[in-house]
Amino acid sequence: MNTRPGPSTRSVHLTEEVDPATRSIIPPIHSNSAYAYPDVETWRAAALGEAEGHIYSRNSNPTTDRFEAKVAALEGAEAATSFSTGMGAISSTLLALLSAGDRAISVKDAYGGSYLCFTDILPRFGVETVLCETDDTAAIEAEVAKGCDLLYLESPTNPALKVLDLRRLAAAAHAVGAIVVVDNTFATPLNQQPLALGVDLVVHSATKFLNGHGDVLGGVVCGSAELVERVYGYREIAGTGLDAHAASQLLRSLKTLGLRIERQNASAMAIALWLEEHPRVTAVHYPGLPSHPMHRVAAAQMSGFGGMLSFELAGGFEEVCRVLPRLQYAYLAANLGQVETVVGPPATTSHVELTAEERA
Ligand SMILES: Cc1ncc(COP(=O)(O)O)c(C=O)c1O
Repeated sequence: MNTRPGPSTRSVHLTEEVDPATRSIIPPIHSNSAYAYPDVETWRAAALGEAEGHIYSRNSNPTTDRFEAKVAALEGAEAATSFSTGMGAISSTLLALLSAGDRAISVKDAYGGSYLCFTDILPRFGVETVLCETDDTAAIEAEVAKGCDLLYLESPTNPALKVLDLRRLAAAAHAVGAIVVVDNTFATPLNQQPLALGVDLVVHSATKFLNGHGDVLGGVVCGSAELVERVYGYREIAGTGLDAHAASQLLRSLKTLGLRIERQNASAMAIALWLEEHPRVTAVHYPGLPSHPMHRVAAAQMSGFGGMLSFELAGGFEEVCRVLPRLQYAYLAANLGQVETVVGPPATTSHVELTAEERA
């Protein structure tokens, strides 16, 4: 008998426990800045990490701790640390792990904010950055073999839904001693577990599928206790941690992750198949379609293909502008992963800060 709990059971029950102080099933929101101690010795021991205890909520908070524990369990990670937004998680991870003189490699397809970390922010701090062609696995391996301290990937990518061979690229990076970070926002831990494929750290915009209701921003980083501790150390000083109220909303949202992802996977697949037959649609990008160039890799490393897809219209951007406002149940908005369908061109959403050339 298979006793591994299914996705919905994991979403509802992993790490959940009745609140010991009140017997409340739902965890209380610790809307609290500082924690009081009876004497300086006990306070000092907690402050130095020699004893359990919270000191100040920029550093740690019981409600955000619970959210971190839950996402870590869903990702199969030893530890997690949470952030006010997905970009807080991504920029903090890069700035925590890289120093002047290091060499960081990524690919041209990534969320616009992450792309800008590589083209603008990291080079200003003396980190050498290289962006490879996303579709060319051998070229990424060759670039990594020249020397690399950190390999940053997103799979599937925003917005072209390209898929990277995570197992193969993680092995290439480890051969030169690099840390591998993967943005798992599009897949969610229920469709893909990058750590099991050899990746070192997983980052999420929790704003998207983890929250799923379009009403809270958040980010999270998961991995080994040692790497997460390094990212946490930076977060503490950068002050980019998650607020307790947002953590509480995210904890509630995670309970329905299993149900939502199952339905969003099925809906995206049905829409992708329908669009593929449409005479005005020239391309559909969805890893679940057998026509997707990396479908076999996606099928090997994902247990579901996700709730995001993109497509191209015969009439180009002008037709996009005509068609989008005519969709009945879709909002023209810059978000994804919420229960409402949202739709938009990268030129106004994920890649608004980039030049037309960079977007192409
Ligand atoms: C794949 C991906 N990663 C990261 C982010 C950034 O997340 P946030 O908006 O929560 O900062 C986004 C936002 O759209 C995204 O799509």
